[in-house]
Amino acid sequence: MRETVIVIDFGGQYNQLVARRVREAGVYCEIYSYKTDIEKIKEMNPKGIILTGGPNSCYEDDSPTYTKELFELGIPVLGLCYGAQLMQHILGGTVEKAPVREYGKTETFFDNSSKLFTDIPEKSVTWMSHFDYIKEAAPGFKVSAHTKDCPVAAAEDEEKKLYAIQFHPEVLHTEHGKEILSNYVYNVCECKGDWKMDTFVEESIKAIREKVGDGKVLLALSGGVDSSVAAGLLSKAIGKQLTCVFVDHGLLRKNEGDEVEEIFGPNGNYDLNFIRVNAQQRYYDKLSGVSEPENKRKIIGEEFIRVFEEEANKIGAVDFLAQGTIYPDVVESGLGGESAVIKSHHNVGGLPDTVDFKDIIEPLRDLFKDEVRKAGLELGLPEYLVFRQPFPGPGLGVRIVGEITEDKVRIVQDADFIYREEVDNALKAYKEANGKEADWKPDQYFAALTNMQSVGVMGDERTYDFAVCLRAVKTIDFMTAESSEIPYEVLNKVMTRIINEVKGVNRVMYDLTSKPPGTIEIE
Ligand code: XMP
Repeated sequence: MRETVIVIDFGGQYNQLVARRVREAGVYCEIYSYKTDIEKIKEMNPKGIILTGGPNSCYEDDSPTYTKELFELGIPVLGLCYGAQLMQHILGGTVEKAPVREYGKTETFFDNSSKLFTDIPEKSVTWMSHFDYIKEAAPGFKVSAHTKDCPVAAAEDEEKKLYAIQFHPEVLHTEHGKEILSNYVYNVCECKGDWKMDTFVEESIKAIREKVGDGKVLLALSGGVDSSVAAGLLSKAIGKQLTCVFVDHGLLRKNEGDEVEEIFGPNGNYDLNFIRVNAQQRYYDKLSGVSEPENKRKIIGEEFIRVFEEEANKIGAVDFLAQGTIYPDVVESGLGGESAVIKSHHNVGGLPDTVDFKDIIEPLRDLFKDEVRKAGLELGLPEYLVFRQPFPGPGLGVRIVGEITEDKVRIVQDADFIYREEVDNALKAYKEANGKEADWKPDQYFAALTNMQSVGVMGDERTYDFAVCLRAVKTIDFMTAESSEIPYEVLNKVMTRIINEVKGVNRVMYDLTSKPPGTIEIE
């Protein structure tokens, strides 16, 4: 049994971040809804429990709460923001609407004799975001941090191992947040820190071998980070018992299909059966004349299932269908609804219905994305694949406005290749010159093809060609995004190269729109 810290989610926007930070400190951490029964928590016997923030006021009748017994188990509990207020409220402290709302970076004074705050400065900046405040700590609690407007920025009952902190240590704006969470798991929960990616890979290989026995496993490999890491892991565990089906739908980025084949194909480094299905023409035929974005998505999704089924049926019955489900998928499909227990995730596109398999195997379902990447490096996957930016399942199908044609795919592939190359070069040069990442470093960047054709002039000739749109966004959660301030000279160089090198383009535009009102993709 791996030592585990449990996060109980009260609806705060940073709940996944809390779990990620705990794992970064080297301790495995899982998230459960506040509706999870205490008996289940007891069974898991966690080393520590963390209560997250949330949007409610804990003193109102219908607000999320938890049984008082949680604080009597002898397991260390750390409450953050709402979690801190709830702990204080339940244990007899006073929580009410604050006379002054604290929001943002806030100077905070710490008592360093607290196990949570050892080795951090007496005064530093924390991230606050609350309307309510703890006016008076519960009986038995000692105040261990305060701010100008917040008399109880942290309180603790060391003997009972209960800790309440009003600010958000999981957010990077809290200067010593990482140390505080690390102090919690090591000084308070007395964890050893056994969560490491090399041991994860080793243990998973063992677990996969045990589960699969001499069975056959089928995996749909897309070339994205998750399915590639799943392929690497399964290959190390069971070799040729694994068959990967890679469907090239003709909507991949430039050279991507060949890159996937290079890594996983017969000349690559992985022991597995690799089947590449060149379904490009089949997709172009199906998509011909279709311009409505939802219809295009539907066709691409359905066709994938059909092609995959056909290949699977050639192979015959398999014992397991492998999926690259990762932990955020699990959390998002289980915590949002009414159910307290996390349910298994089903990919949005649905499972193929005619493939004959007995069970599903999801080797990455415990991992966050950054951990999937680390596992990928452990497994020897190339860095360019492991650190690949997100690429949507329907591929360039959501980056071509209007009807999709083979020629349009070529244009967007070539323009996108140039754009990514120049942005990557500029980012690398910036880092070398300044020793840090550029502020404008986008989280996702790509070229899309607008459906606009307009008049231009090339040499002495009139042209009537397409406009390429460059997109680059900064985002944390991909739910909201801002356009990134790529330096003008970089954009200018990209524009010149695209016009010179990509036939069929006579205009290059940069999309400034944030999300909302725009989306990140352009379809
Ligand atoms: P939008 O365009 O909705 O994109 O602002 C948000 C993020 O989701 C990605 N995206 C997808 N990913 N299948 C995926 O796996 C899809 O159908 C899909 N559509 C959008 C997009 O690249 C961005 O990161």
